[in-house]
Amino acid sequence: MKNQSPYSLWQELGNPKYALAPMVDINDLPFRILCRKYNTHLTFTQMYNITTFINDKNIRLKILNDINSSLDNPCIIQFCGHDPELLLKSAQIVQSHTKCIDLNLGCPQNIAKRGHYGSFLLDHPDEVYKILGYIINNKINISCKIRLYENVDKTYDFVKKIEEIGIKFLTVHGRTKLQKGENVGKCNWDAIKVIKKITNIPIIANGGIGTWEDIDKCFEYTGCDCVMSGEKMIEDPTFFSRKKYDIDDICLEYLDIWNKYENNIEVNMSGIRGHMFKWFYTGCKAEPKFNQKIALVKNLKEACDVAKEMKEFRKNWNLDDKFGWYKRYFNKKNNNENKNDINNNNKDNVDNNDDIKFSIGIQEK
Ligand SMILES: Cc1cc2nc3c(=O)[nH]c(=O)nc-3n(C[C@H](O)[C@H](O)[C@H](O)COP(=O)(O)O)c2cc1C
Repeated sequence: MKNQSPYSLWQELGNPKYALAPMVDINDLPFRILCRKYNTHLTFTQMYNITTFINDKNIRLKILNDINSSLDNPCIIQFCGHDPELLLKSAQIVQSHTKCIDLNLGCPQNIAKRGHYGSFLLDHPDEVYKILGYIINNKINISCKIRLYENVDKTYDFVKKIEEIGIKFLTVHGRTKLQKGENVGKCNWDAIKVIKKITNIPIIANGGIGTWEDIDKCFEYTGCDCVMSGEKMIEDPTFFSRKKYDIDDICLEYLDIWNKYENNIEVNMSGIRGHMFKWFYTGCKAEPKFNQKIALVKNLKEACDVAKEMKEFRKNWNLDDKFGWYKRYFNKKNNNENKNDINNNNKDNVDNNDDIKFSIGIQEK
């Protein structure tokens, strides 16, 4: 496998240009199907904890229920954890559903510190090399998603090494693990540019891409093969289509996908409510009673009723005014500091908060 051309798997994946970031409690299967319909070429699942995946049958079944290669392909299944044997077992279980698994080396949260995974594994590079080598020797395709080291040169040595071990592609979130919460700061596209230059594998650039202009600038500046977006996709799953759609219709379309596959996919109402709160962020601000209505929806029918009510309420709104969630943290105290950043992505970022609610597959036991 190591001797194949560095782009052979990437070509099998269709030379993707636009990727949906892995996101806990966001990337349910209907959401991934929706993003794909609007020009997302490559999807990622949220991270799944290998310990619970292997040891908890109910969680494993829930996760397997959320993966479906005939509806969502190519999709990269992301795992977090540090035990090579558990990772191999997990990879073998999902092998028929994906061409590649991804190892999370970026999560900066306390739960990752306690579980010894995500960006905290980066502090133990030899352990990462061992895990990757073990998986690759067992003929499983694996990619990684990393953050940067504080000492950015260390990142370059690390990526050269994991390329040599044989990972298939690399996603770089251009921030360090300390760049979270109030300290989120700018995304380091210079580092991504260097990584692209010194490696021969496909590179996905991630972090703070929030406009169509950002997409073009990021390709141009970093030379990356693909851009990945997270929070902007939460707000607008049609982002990569580079066209304007009515988010109220998109919400109804998402609910339609759930309706269509209701018999095959276990309906996740809390996930659905979570999406509705974000898509209807400005509507709820204009008419706070919608907060309560969304919080109370118990099934797909009720969710559709509230979505239709919101559409009627906003029928005369400009499409742009319906958005607002992504920019909720803009103009915070960092605004002036980062005014001159290349991509001016000076917002806070849910990725960096410790209060993400964890659901399937990632709780620690
Ligand atoms: C709600 C949420 C959940 C996330 N969950 C994951 C995850 O499971 N795995 C991962 O590698 N990154 C996760 N991230 C980080 C994103 O994949 C991405 O790296 C980060 O949001 C920066 O990209 P963006 O600025 O386009 O949002 C998460 C981010 C958010 C906002």
